[in-house]
Amino acid sequence: MKVAVIGGGRMGSGIAQVFLVRGDHVTVQEPLAEQARRRIADGLAVAASKGLADPDEALARLTMDAVPADAELVVEAVPEDAALKIRILAEAEARLSRDALLASNTSSLSIAELAAALDRPERLIGLHFFNPVPVQRLVEIVVTAATPPDVLERARRVVAGLGKTGVVVNDSPGFTTSRLGVLLGLEAIRMVEEGVASAEDIDTAMTLGYGHPMGPLRLGDLVGLDVRLAIAEYLHAKLGPRFEPPGLLREKVAAGELGRKSGKGFYAW
Ligand SMILES: NC(=O)c1ccc[n+]([C@@H]2O[C@H](COP(=O)([O-])OP(=O)(O)OC[C@H]3O[C@@H](n4cnc5c(N)ncnc54)[C@H](O)[C@@H]3O)[C@@H](O)[C@H]2O)c1
Repeated sequence: MKVAVIGGGRMGSGIAQVFLVRGDHVTVQEPLAEQARRRIADGLAVAASKGLADPDEALARLTMDAVPADAELVVEAVPEDAALKIRILAEAEARLSRDALLASNTSSLSIAELAAALDRPERLIGLHFFNPVPVQRLVEIVVTAATPPDVLERARRVVAGLGKTGVVVNDSPGFTTSRLGVLLGLEAIRMVEEGVASAEDIDTAMTLGYGHPMGPLRLGDLVGLDVRLAIAEYLHAKLGPRFEPPGLLREKVAAGELGRKSGKGFYAW
């Protein structure tokens, strides 16, 4: 299959890598092309160490360029900015054949809103991959009221072809994962705020008591508390007061305590 990925950052380079490992031809459209190519090559070297790919053969199928007119699938993974995504998707659609499938890797934006400027909005679907893409097995397949059955079927085949498990979600704020995950994270922060337990003990309770691989506060530190706050604000605006960000989260972000990337969040890193 001929695949194009727009945006070769953290997610886009991982998405490009998994299609290359599967044997597809992949074009990556990315202003910082050299960096993205290096990221993909590094990822392929890891895949090779696990016996999954011949990195030279896979890299020979990678092109760093604008979306080609004969791409069959385009996955958009530019930053989480609705106006940017709408423009990028419309530009891609104008180059493509009528049959090409368009996908967005947005983690929270409405697929219907991103599709609104397209000539054929029904062919945009959400393919919400998880970080790191080569390791995480889940993909949320986000459909709108306009998604035809054949578009969903093609998306399911793409996901299964990558050896991943797809769950189908109707286009709604936060899909399934962010909506539930953020709610748990916000409540955990409220519990720290109220002095119910320490961050460490809340996380231990959820890992040992509920079998979560990681507690909600450590996970928030890894994702970035600024990212968490932005998603909470979006869900608060869309879904109401149960997503209201706790004061402690706002204070930490204002103080530059963003989690692992700044060296301090609920934990010292
Ligand atoms: N990071 C995560 O954990 C995660 C998980 C799931 C989904 N997402 C979603 O994936 C998308 C990308 O996130 P990311 O973490 O990879 O971001 P990132 O900042 O690492 O990568 C974005 C890339 O897009 C490039 N870009 C910017 N403008 C562009 C343009 N006009 N054309 C082509 N490329 C352009 C940037 O140079 C950058 O390399 C976002 O929508 C995000 O919400 C992220």
